[in-house]
Amino acid sequence: MPSQYFDEKLAKRCRSFRFEFAKRPLAGCTVVVAGGAGGLGSALVALLAKEGARLIVGYRSNRARAEALRAAIEDRYAQKITLVEGDIARPEVRGAYLDAVENIGGRSKGGGLLHAAAIFPGDPARVSFEAMNQKAMEASLEANFLAPILLAKDLGTAMDASAEDPASPLRAAGGGSIVLLASMQAVAAFPSSLNYAAPKAALVHAARVLAAQWKHVRVNVVAPGATVAGMAEASVSSGKYDSFVEKGTIPRFGRPEDVARAVRFFLEPDGYATGQVLVIDGGLTLRR
Ligand SMILES: NC(=O)c1ccc[n+]([C@@H]2O[C@H](COP(=O)([O-])OP(=O)(O)OC[C@H]3O[C@@H](n4cnc5c(N)ncnc54)[C@H](OP(=O)(O)O)[C@@H]3O)[C@@H](O)[C@H]2O)c1
Repeated sequence: MPSQYFDEKLAKRCRSFRFEFAKRPLAGCTVVVAGGAGGLGSALVALLAKEGARLIVGYRSNRARAEALRAAIEDRYAQKITLVEGDIARPEVRGAYLDAVENIGGRSKGGGLLHAAAIFPGDPARVSFEAMNQKAMEASLEANFLAPILLAKDLGTAMDASAEDPASPLRAAGGGSIVLLASMQAVAAFPSSLNYAAPKAALVHAARVLAAQWKHVRVNVVAPGATVAGMAEASVSSGKYDSFVEKGTIPRFGRPEDVARAVRFFLEPDGYATGQVLVIDGGLTLRR
């Protein structure tokens, strides 16, 4: 018996090599970029603004940097962004992201509909193995696991509920998408990284569980390596990782644009990858 899900028109198109690739699939989509004012997140904000996405950008307390990013984005891409301030570990701050989604753009233009979210907040949680204690571990667990996963839960639950309705525009767009930020240290063991790496590894597993949990929301993880911006900037510029370039382990240090392109891939509407981890480390964890 022929499959009721097989689309003969589509198959015919493929047989005649007429493939379809959307030019600016995220244009007009509402996307939350939590931690989007940071070193890596700001590159994603620029990439999505260039494409015409409607952006809700979060930061914890560095308002000056967030306002500077907003001004730069408006200036370069003529695109307005909505800022959300506060620690995502707090429920009212997570609620403020959902309120911003409701308010953005007005209902007539699709306000209230969240298409995708990228969740960047994290903390380097630097503490030597000898000095590591319960307090340091709990702080890292909150910053690198609890807070981002709770935000993913809140935003993903809203997206999944909205796409449950077969007539909803999110369902028509192929459901929602969430991307979480881990680290190469979550997928490969580096000495002295216990306090940072273990909660990031837990985040990777939680992302897979969420991907299995929701029917209409894809959940993926991007795991950057040593990147020249953001929280690794001081370590990279200090020469700590120079030997990796000198020995040819990596061709160069990572750039925020490398990470932004990977995150954007997962955010595209109607994507077909879920529960995956994309390591963007120039091959460092493979060749070291
Ligand atoms: N940079 C790298 O080379 C690298 C490598 C591997 C993994 N990563 C991961 O990539 C992600 C982004 O890193 P980054 O280098 O861009 O960091 P970053 O420059 O320190 O930026 C972090 C951003 O998140 C915000 N933030 C931090 N904690 C928050 C919280 N609890 N609630 C709300 N906002 C919060 C910060 O706001 P404020 O500035 O206002 O505090 C800032 O906007 C992190 O998860 C990190 O672990 C980075």
